[in-house]
Amino acid sequence: MFDLKNYLDDKIKIVNFTLENILNSSSDSSRLLEAMNYSLMGSGKRLRPVLCIATAQAIGCEINKDLLNTACALEMIHTYSLIHDDLPAMDDDEYRRGKLTCHRAFDEATAILTGDALLTLAFETLSICKNENYDKKDFENKLLIIKEIAKASGNKGMIYGQMNDILSEGKELTIQEIEKIHISKTGALIKASVLSGSIIAKASKSQIKSLSIYAHNIGLAFQVTDDILNITGDPEIMGKSTGTDNKRNKSTYPLLLGVESAKKLSHTFIDNALCSINEFGKNALPLCAIAKYIINRKK
Ligand code: IPE
Ligand code: IPE
Ligand code: MG
Ligand code: MG
Repeated sequence: MFDLKNYLDDKIKIVNFTLENILNSSSDSSRLLEAMNYSLMGSGKRLRPVLCIATAQAIGCEINKDLLNTACALEMIHTYSLIHDDLPAMDDDEYRRGKLTCHRAFDEATAILTGDALLTLAFETLSICKNENYDKKDFENKLLIIKEIAKASGNKGMIYGQMNDILSEGKELTIQEIEKIHISKTGALIKASVLSGSIIAKASKSQIKSLSIYAHNIGLAFQVTDDILNITGDPEIMGKSTGTDNKRNKSTYPLLLGVESAKKLSHTFIDNALCSINEFGKNALPLCAIAKYIINRKK
């Protein structure tokens, strides 16, 4: 049987080691670097980098420097989005990853700048080309990855979703409207993680099509589960406060449909995801296990 815990532990260790190296490669010991370390090196699940690596492996690509840099860039973008998401002007949260949010531990200006710095460092990391064996296709693929991650993170993806999430506070949305917010605020970066892993592994068009369906569905299931845990989860285990969506009048699947129906829906998304990657056989065991973990997690 596939041991997901072992797999995650192993990949998280490699990702954390690489993140530390990237972050501390300069001898700078500023407050900014301290805050970047504080937020980035916390107890995050590292789902996006692990997805990037697991996707490349599903296509038969071994872990290499490009894959690790891309995986770490995704985590930096994700962490920046969390720092800004927690700010008083956004969700105004006090805890994240089991400790005070960045603006509480430092101050608002530092938290804003820490997010800015992580986003920028992510793109610097993505642009590293140290491999002497690069051919024209490798350079084209690198540009394509940068473009896809930029699109997913920006005004057509994550930021678009974050804007609409804030604008919809206090309004009763339809399921379709909630789904649109989920697809962009959370789904877009998850999809970009899968897509970049598949581009690095030189996946075929049809493989990318199947993996996109997988990513779309796990992205939705991930946010539905996040919203369920916001109602039913244990704040100690999750490392962040619960009950906040209700307090802030957010429209979420469980608040609109009830927890049980939202759970059923998340199972349907995961069934769809699993179906879409059947063709990859044994190589996709990690992707299958990650999909199931997304809806069964406690944090
Ligand atoms: C939480 O993301 C915020 C959402 C996008 C829903 P994660 O649950 O992946 O947070 P960490 O990285 O484990 O802290
Ligand atoms: C966060 O969504 C999405 C991004 C940071 C892009 P939420 O606001 O629902 O996530 P939590 O519950 O604070 O982790
Ligand atoms: Mg939010
Ligand atoms: Mg939030």
